[in-house]
Amino acid sequence: MGGMKAEWTKPHLKVVMMGNSGVGKSSFMQRFVNHRFINLFRTTIGTDFLTKEVSVDGRSVILQIWDTAGTERFQSIGTALFRGAHCCLLVFDVASAASFSALDDWLHELLTQVNPRNPAEFPLLVIGNKTDQRNRQVSKEQARRWCMVTGAEFIEGSAKEDLNVDYAFHQAARAALHYFEANSVETDSSCIQISEEEPKETRPGKCQC
Ligand code: GTP
Ligand code: MG
Repeated sequence: MGGMKAEWTKPHLKVVMMGNSGVGKSSFMQRFVNHRFINLFRTTIGTDFLTKEVSVDGRSVILQIWDTAGTERFQSIGTALFRGAHCCLLVFDVASAASFSALDDWLHELLTQVNPRNPAEFPLLVIGNKTDQRNRQVSKEQARRWCMVTGAEFIEGSAKEDLNVDYAFHQAARAALHYFEANSVETDSSCIQISEEEPKETRPGKCQC
């Protein structure tokens, strides 16, 4: 058995997801982690995260996926949550031109929130979700052009049809691992540490009688 030590020697990679409300960020994450899809739209409140172990070129890594709420765009989500991220997935809906136009703002938001030490090298993946939709508004070419300018990798897929979801997260994991290895000084602060308060000892009171 590997035990706790083996668990902690695996790189913990922080991947953040951003994009307009309704583009399918939570659906994409749920499809990947829990292999399910729900048609119902339940907007994310605050920030959610899930972890999943994946293998990158034979090496085990722990992906910590942070799913943000698209509606909280211009509110301060709290930069502390995003600090130390190793990769970002910018998600838009191929059937929504507005969600694609918003990528410029999201990129700006991302660079402000994550504040990467090497912005030019920070791994960026753009996900064009909902390719199953018939009323497409954003062409592959349009999306590719934006990605070329910003240095992002472009992947199209569908959370609903389970198309390219695994592939997208594996590409994210690979890019995140490279970034992690190149910037490993920061790794200590990249994972949340959940510290529990010491339980207070409850002593039986002395009998007063
Ligand atoms: P916020 O949490 O508000 O930021 O939204 P979100 O980006 O997390 O969107 P969410 O995953 O909640 O999905 C919004 C709606 O789109 C839901 O009704 C989903 O079922 C639907 N949806 C997500 N992915 C797809 C897809 O690939 N195809 C189709 N047709 N619908 C999808
Ligand atoms: Mg959501």
